[in-house]
Amino acid sequence: MDLLFVLSFSTAILFLGMHRGHCADIIGGEHSARHSRPFMAALIGGKRLKCGGTLIKRNWVLTAGHCNVGKGDEVVLGVHSLSKPGREKQNFHITNVYVHPKYDQITKENDIMILQLNRKAELNRYVQTIRLPSTYEDVRAGTQCLVTGWGITENTGQISDTLREVNVAVVDRHTCNDRNHYNSQPVVTENMVCAGGDNNQRNDTCNGDSGGPLICGGIQRGITSFGREGRCGDPQFPGVYTRLTRDNLDWIKKIVFWGLSREKGTTVVLGAHSLSKNEREKQIFQVTKVFAHPNYNSETLENDIMLLQLNRKAKITRAVKKTKMPTTYDDIKAGTQCLVTGWGLTENGGKASDTLREANVTVIDRHICKNHYNSIALVTPNMVCAGGAKKTRKDTCKADSGGPLICGGIQRGITSFGQKGKCGDPQFPGVYTRLTKDYLEWIKKTMGRNLD
Ligand SMILES: *[C@@H]1O[C@H](CO)[C@@H](O)[C@H](O)[C@H]1NC(C)=O
Ligand SMILES: *[C@@H]1O[C@H](CO)[C@@H](O)[C@H](O)[C@H]1NC(C)=O
Repeated sequence: MDLLFVLSFSTAILFLGMHRGHCADIIGGEHSARHSRPFMAALIGGKRLKCGGTLIKRNWVLTAGHCNVGKGDEVVLGVHSLSKPGREKQNFHITNVYVHPKYDQITKENDIMILQLNRKAELNRYVQTIRLPSTYEDVRAGTQCLVTGWGITENTGQISDTLREVNVAVVDRHTCNDRNHYNSQPVVTENMVCAGGDNNQRNDTCNGDSGGPLICGGIQRGITSFGREGRCGDPQFPGVYTRLTRDNLDWIKKIVFWGLSREKGTTVVLGAHSLSKNEREKQIFQVTKVFAHPNYNSETLENDIMLLQLNRKAKITRAVKKTKMPTTYDDIKAGTQCLVTGWGLTENGGKASDTLREANVTVIDRHICKNHYNSIALVTPNMVCAGGAKKTRKDTCKADSGGPLICGGIQRGITSFGQKGKCGDPQFPGVYTRLTKDYLEWIKKTMGRNLD
């Protein structure tokens, strides 16, 4: 586990990742009976424990957003002892990592992440999925819950080789925020749960326990998130857990249970002209992280913008260059000539093009475009419409999505939507996500946070 201490202002918050200064591998607890917690996943990088997690579906593991794991790290199920080999163990690679789009390192909000495994686990006595909540209510103060992990057992201790567990009691959120506890540094929000021992008992999680479950009544209600550095087991600073709220559960469901994920992992190819031909200019990448816009709405198509992080840096060549992003935030005037490009369909009902194609389009006044789409779709100021000049049939179509709208050499938009079956129809011009100030700031922030 990497040290993920984040110093927020003057307060050192210990994430319970491997480097939680002195926190709990489980503090004040006991060894779990062998294989009594078959949903536990050990996240291993460079032979070291990085975090815990839970199996929620045969090829999906839930963990904390701050856990510094990705492709190349390993997920092991059926583990009691980390060091001893065991036939019960099942080892996996990580094919996709989904960090909650609203995870915030400073406030610790939405400290949640989902890992997709390279294959489905075999379910048996040693490996099982955990139950997630089917209702959304808060976890009441006083509720007894179980936490489990291989984290350190004393503030200055080491990772536990065998799985440990301890009961904790949920602490009232107001109490947890008061001056005798976290003093709102950081604020423990409704999306978090505090839990610790009663009457000065030292029951707690600590470094290395991050990502593991908070289980109440047999159901996972939270994810081990953070504590105060060097103060695991200190009743003044109970452990803080990401709560599985309705929003968090909806997000998990969307990705894991409704299949809104790229099952096999997406490949990104740069430098391509023909999709089918071997071209020496091509550079091929795996997507290691996906950052959908936190307010993307699949119904209204608002905020239709996403960032993909690649597994390595591209080499800048004659065939591979960065797009030019806007440096000003003004709207794009109606009548502006722009270029669109993609391998999308060349006719409604046709096929995708093997070679890259492009067309000149003209930006259309937003009010006029709004009227065109009328009740079918809402065209907002974050969108821009463009079509063929003088009602020619120039347009983007299916599979052009995500490509650029380039005006004066600068990418001003992203191909977003049109009316189904009406590509090239002047009645329904193409609609592009406009690179507004907000989006450009979101891009900068997201990329800045993931610069490693
Ligand atoms: C704390 O741990 C002890 C020992 O495991 C246990 O007896 C006690 O019930 C736990 N306290 C809470 C609040 O669960
Ligand atoms: C787009 O317009 C430019 C400038 O008018 C022109 O040079 C170019 O050939 C046009 N491209 C296409 C694909 O029509």
